[in-house]
Amino acid sequence: MKNESTKRIKDSQVEMTEIVLPQDTNSLGTIFGGRVMQWMDIGAAICGFRHCRTAVVTASVDRLTFLVPLKIGHIVSVRASVNYTAKTSMEIGVRVDSEEPLTGKKQHCSSAYFTFVAVNEAGKPIVVPSVVPVTAEEKRRFEAAKKRRQERLTMREHETRQSRK
Ligand SMILES: CC(C)(COP(=O)(O)OP(=O)(O)OC[C@H]1O[C@@H](n2cnc3c(N)ncnc32)[C@H](O)[C@@H]1OP(=O)(O)O)[C@@H](O)C(=O)NCCC(=O)NCCS
Repeated sequence: MKNESTKRIKDSQVEMTEIVLPQDTNSLGTIFGGRVMQWMDIGAAICGFRHCRTAVVTASVDRLTFLVPLKIGHIVSVRASVNYTAKTSMEIGVRVDSEEPLTGKKQHCSSAYFTFVAVNEAGKPIVVPSVVPVTAEEKRRFEAAKKRRQERLTMREHETRQSRK
């Protein structure tokens, strides 16, 4: 269960490029939220695999926002980065931006924080390598993610207590 290794954030970062196809959209020509969430989950999973080099599973997703709609034909950039590592889990931040193909105009469309857990072949949690924040931006994200983890733990404790009543 012990894993003393450390990894740099930049070594597992992911940038995926997609395009919004007709089958991804509703009658208004804007994308289904579930399609965006699928791309985000895949981007985060690849980031988790690169960081851990073991199987990883999605444990939770929070603060998922859809700010502006992606439209048919838009080029989509999905970026994922490990913000924080705890013992067997890590927070991966995912951001989605759109790019209009003819003008190149870019917009921030969506963001979320994914918690992934590294697991062994039996699906049991195993220790993740620690992440080392290097830049000022990485350090800021690391501290913010640490706070969010604490909030998640407090919320889960509260929910567990409530469900026992
Ligand atoms: C995620 C999973 C492996 C956790 O297993 P578990 O036996 O509950 O493990 P533990 O309670 O020991 O928690 C292990 C870690 O997961 C974290 N975790 C568990 N549930 C969580 C949740 N809902 N949100 C955030 N983190 C969670 C814990 O905080 C802990 O992290 P830490 O070791 O870094 O402190 C297990 O619940 C699972 O397999 N879930 C299904 C995952 C899946 O199939 N995802 C795909 C979408 S359905």
